Amino acid sequence: MVKKLSDTYELNNGLKIPCVGFGTWQTPDGEVAVNAVKSAIECGYRHIDTAAVYGNEESVGKAVRAGTVSRDDIFITTKLWNDEHGYEAALKACDVSLERLGVDIIDLYLIHWPNPIKFRGSFERTNAETWQAMEELYQAGKVKAIGVSNYLPHHLESLLKTARIMPMVNQIRLFPGYTQKETVSYCREKNILIEAYSPLGTGKLLDAPELVPIAEKYSKSPARICLRWSLQMGFLPLPKSVTASRIKENADIFDFTLSPAEMDILTNMPNHGGDGMNPDEAPF
Ligand code: A2P
Repeated sequence: MVKKLSDTYELNNGLKIPCVGFGTWQTPDGEVAVNAVKSAIECGYRHIDTAAVYGNEESVGKAVRAGTVSRDDIFITTKLWNDEHGYEAALKACDVSLERLGVDIIDLYLIHWPNPIKFRGSFERTNAETWQAMEELYQAGKVKAIGVSNYLPHHLESLLKTARIMPMVNQIRLFPGYTQKETVSYCREKNILIEAYSPLGTGKLLDAPELVPIAEKYSKSPARICLRWSLQMGFLPLPKSVTASRIKENADIFDFTLSPAEMDILTNMPNHGGDGMNPDEAPF
């Protein structure tokens, strides 16, 4: 079991990935993003998760360069946006992200969604071409690992018909009460690491009646309980915050262990965070 923020999981290509990522979805570009990422690094986070569509890659890069921790000790993930699927477009999009981040190499590059509206109806072919570009970026050394996000088993099945390299990661929406069992077990079988976005249910489940008594028992906030659950599930959580005190709080999840009964309660509690988007119907 991981014991601190900089402890790592190992991806199926041998690359080590710090076990908690700092999320930046909905973090406004500019000073807010720069300060949030800087304060995360100061608190010990060594893994920052962004995406082209978040619009804050430049700020993430700036914060990483500004800190006292060397770039090489920070794991940066970014994602290919839906407009850029297809072989040529994906190659170009990666270059643009490298430039915006101001780095020579991206640690992990993900296809953000499997079935963009622009390619709906031909997503299988488009995904195959996009994945070929991802594989080439990996082989060319522009990215250290490649993966996907929001993929359900049927999207992965389709991808694997032509893939030469197994995705290393699938980043999906996961929190207590919302556990995507089929996708998780499919990925485990294929040795694809599961990353959990919205691990706090975007903040919506923090007063859940199932969660609060467990939080009280350990004298830990509900947010910490959610993140601890995620780690004990073997997921890699990506908590997002722009608030310095919460960024620090969310890092403090290594000095207690939830019991199997508590894990069961959290796994099986009702979904208080709302349903996620069906990737085959997402309106973008
Ligand atoms: P903020 O960024 O204003 O601090 P998720 O990671 O599931 O997407 O959740 C992110 C949301 O939860 C954001 O609105 C964030 O607010 C809020 N949040 C993050 N950490 C905490 C915390 N420790 N306690 C309460 N709310 C939190």
